Amino acid sequence: MVFESPLALAADHGGFELKESLKKHLEARGIPYRDFGTDSAASVDYPDYALPACQAVVRGECSAAILCCGTGVGMSMCANKVKGIRACCCSDAFSAEFTRRHNNANALCLGGRVVGAVLAETLVDLFVDTPFEGGRHQNRIDKMMAIETL
Ligand code: RB5
Repeated sequence: MVFESPLALAADHGGFELKESLKKHLEARGIPYRDFGTDSAASVDYPDYALPACQAVVRGECSAAILCCGTGVGMSMCANKVKGIRACCCSDAFSAEFTRRHNNANALCLGGRVVGAVLAETLVDLFVDTPFEGGRHQNRIDKMMAIETL
């Protein structure tokens, strides 16, 4: 685990079941998290859950976010509108690893209707265990974050 403070978890109804199963995985690994909802499979709007989880990351109350919706796409679009968030919607192991190595991602977005629970665990493990490489990638991150000021 390369992150220090708790992870922020959030989901809409499309990602609720996946979030619940990932909570068990994090608990088994002893990784602390804060759950920003949703708390059932009833239909809700994913921006309402993405925003508070991402704000907790930006404030430093949580170190990174794991956001689940049906595709992971809506959550990633919302997350990337929050200043300071670098979110990646992933359904493959290579991207989950390299969005940490090269992009220093601080939010992982998963589709509860796209990835199964076991693959999602693998993606989360890669995400939380892989350090940022820095070096030439830091310059690129700096340029990326400067886009927020335009
Ligand atoms: C909800 O039906 C669905 O649109 C949402 O979970 C997500 O997939 C949006 O990107």
